[in-house]
Amino acid sequence: MNENDTEKMYILLSNEYEPTSNPENADLILINTCSVREKPEHKVYSEVGRYKELKRKKPDLIIGITGCVAQQEGENLIKRLPYVDLVLGTQGFYFIRDILKEFQQKRKPIVFVELKPDFKPPLLIRENLTLFDQKKVTAFVTIMQGCDNFCTYCIVPYVRGREISRPPKDILREIEELVKKGVREVTLLGQNVNSYGLKERNYPTFPELLNMVSQIDGLWRIRFTTNHPKDFSDKLIETIATNPKLCKHIHLPLQAGSNKILKKMNRKYTKEEYLEKVEKLKKAVPDIAITSDIIVGFPEETEKDFEETLDMLKKVRYHEIFSFKYSDRPFTAAKNLKDKVPEEEKEKRLKKLHEEQQKITQEIYNSYIDKVVEILVEGPSPKNPNMLTGRTTTNVVVNFKSPRLDIKGALVNVKITEAGKHSLKGEYLEILKI
Ligand code: 5AD
Ligand code: SF4
Repeated sequence: MNENDTEKMYILLSNEYEPTSNPENADLILINTCSVREKPEHKVYSEVGRYKELKRKKPDLIIGITGCVAQQEGENLIKRLPYVDLVLGTQGFYFIRDILKEFQQKRKPIVFVELKPDFKPPLLIRENLTLFDQKKVTAFVTIMQGCDNFCTYCIVPYVRGREISRPPKDILREIEELVKKGVREVTLLGQNVNSYGLKERNYPTFPELLNMVSQIDGLWRIRFTTNHPKDFSDKLIETIATNPKLCKHIHLPLQAGSNKILKKMNRKYTKEEYLEKVEKLKKAVPDIAITSDIIVGFPEETEKDFEETLDMLKKVRYHEIFSFKYSDRPFTAAKNLKDKVPEEEKEKRLKKLHEEQQKITQEIYNSYIDKVVEILVEGPSPKNPNMLTGRTTTNVVVNFKSPRLDIKGALVNVKITEAGKHSLKGEYLEILKI
């Protein structure tokens, strides 16, 4: 989502500015930030610190901090980092053009961190596709902002505000424009895409929106993230099973495997309910890949609670998980819970979780060997420019040898020959669509 917001800032500024990969050449540096966990928040300060010296040498340089840390800290950032000129929150950055004009006149720091519950993000059409890559095959499209769920560990509702769905016509128009420029796969983004449109009158539901998007000619693949298990519906399962443009991958964050911890997290489902949905999904779409986010060491999590999380990995058999040590976040309810898990214990649990998942991922990856899979070619492989890279419908990265290297954007059949830890290797067979 942050990457997508960065792109929006670029679209907003593209008439006045052009991108540079060298900060020494920049007239404007915007640092777009994440505060979902403690670690990325800390990184912000060291990142911004890198530009202090530049600003001293070049006083006209404008430095801005945008996004979630800006939203969270507001004025404090200017106090702590006096060489910063702009602090623009998660809605504030949309006003960047006017704010820059104002700044150029007054030359005084501007902080814009208002969050309006009825804020309507404007429709931004890309002239150039992304910052440096004109020929992108995949793109993100934000369909909703904010979140109303208030999981007790999570800062998102506080820094991104209440849930707002974008009008379907804006979403469709944005995707049509992307497809005209060569995009073949979109990932629809929201904190909880399953509740898309429910707060508005006459908006489609999420499964209806998916069917509308799938009617766009020239769009071949649709992904979406992220799902909340409590709202993950039978109708959505049926849509995935029947609509061939929908990729066979679901990110369904479990967060924890013990009902006690799920309750303390305010997740509003039990592990039994979660498993029931997973079973339904696997039955309707047998080759579905499921991935998850897991937090270890939430306050009051005992060894036994953690073992229930490990047990869930074995039951669900995720393709991949993203796992995090719990960290206190400002404003959240969990921050005030007393019984915190010691850092070494969190570290130990995280390691154990990784090991358990690594075994499962490896088994699943090995099962791809000798299979023929459809890959959307995204470009040259980052590690070996003589190979191409893309992903399966199940979202597994595949690097493969190909007699032709000029087929970016094509859908090809690839035979899998090897399974690595984080990706597969294969050989090109044939082009299906170009
Ligand atoms: N500590 C650790 N992980 C967190 N996440 C969100 N808040 C916290 C926190 N306070 C994780 C969740 C979420 C992902 C984006 O980040 O797993 O799904
Ligand atoms: Fe955070 Fe929960 Fe909302 Fe996800 S659903 S953004 S974890 S509050």
